[in-house]
Amino acid sequence: MSELIIAPMQPDEWSQVGALIHQSTNSWYQSHLGHEIFNCSPSETDIFCKVYEALDPGCCLIARLDGNIAGSCFYHPRPTHISLGILNVASDYFGRGIARALLNAVCEIADAENKTVRLISSALNLDSFSLYSRAGFCPKAVYQDMIIPYPEHGHIYKSPPTFTVRDAAIEDLEGMVELELKHTGLSRKKDFKYFLENSEGIWHTSIAVMESGELSGFMVSHVHPASAIVGPGFATSEEVAEALVCEELNFRGPSTPLIVVPAIASNLIKSLYARGARNLELHLGQARGVFQEPTGYQFPTFLPETA
Ligand SMILES: CC(C)(COP(=O)(O)OP(=O)(O)OC[C@H]1O[C@@H](n2cnc3c(N)ncnc32)[C@H](O)[C@@H]1OP(=O)(O)O)[C@@H](O)C(=O)NCCC(=O)NCCS
Repeated sequence: MSELIIAPMQPDEWSQVGALIHQSTNSWYQSHLGHEIFNCSPSETDIFCKVYEALDPGCCLIARLDGNIAGSCFYHPRPTHISLGILNVASDYFGRGIARALLNAVCEIADAENKTVRLISSALNLDSFSLYSRAGFCPKAVYQDMIIPYPEHGHIYKSPPTFTVRDAAIEDLEGMVELELKHTGLSRKKDFKYFLENSEGIWHTSIAVMESGELSGFMVSHVHPASAIVGPGFATSEEVAEALVCEELNFRGPSTPLIVVPAIASNLIKSLYARGARNLELHLGQARGVFQEPTGYQFPTFLPETA
């Protein structure tokens, strides 16, 4: 029987890993839910390798079996936690313990640093739910994946006079970091700096500023052939969240990115339905280890994966 080898991804393997993400995800969704996730070419899903390697070089693990790349998993070490990025197994190798071996390797890294591992997983995917549940992960938050048609003249929202929304600049970095740390216990300066510098040319960020000058929220978005999402973001209130979501949707225009909305934001969700929102999927924010309940509204994303 051949041996399963877990080792870091090499730079010349990016395109193979991109193709694996495409094949694995589309195959699972097609056979279980009757549709695919990636409508782009397999070469375009290597955006995950590009973004993740720019943020965390060397933090992708590959599972090799029979001399083939059978699985891959990205992880993102941060001062307060480790996020687990996209985890995939080639469909020919499903059910052979490959995902478990990759996940164990990341959990061992986290345990050695005494850090919580956080991830976002589909509530419609019992294979991944069971994988994470068996490894000690616990669901902490529910998210509704929504798509909203773009109205001809953009999204109009009523902004109360207590805050204003504008494009974020690099000078806003520290404020964004402090806001998220204060309300969620998470520190992700590296990610926010990367979004604001925007070397890929795919990111945009809005922030909400109160009369006092303090930040009350921020929202990032990206649009790429392999992935188009509003998030990550954080808002102290549903009103702030709605203004930020509308700003990012208006910036993106007819490309209608996915919004991963915290299910507890019931007023925001009601308003998004009034704008024509459709539910596409449900996701669970999961943690293995100490978890701080956020005071406010967190918006995760799948690129780079955050929870
Ligand atoms: C989800 C996915 C990663 C699982 O990979 P895999 O290599 O087939 O998973 P494993 O063989 O390691 O099995 C995972 C564990 O879940 C268990 N499991 C699976 N279905 C289960 C169920 N319904 N109830 C209880 N346990 C279940 C398995 O028994 C195994 O546990 P064990 O090793 O302790 O026996 C794979 O199907 C995949 O890549 N799917 C497409 C992409 C995706 O969904 N990625 C996850 C996104 S976060």
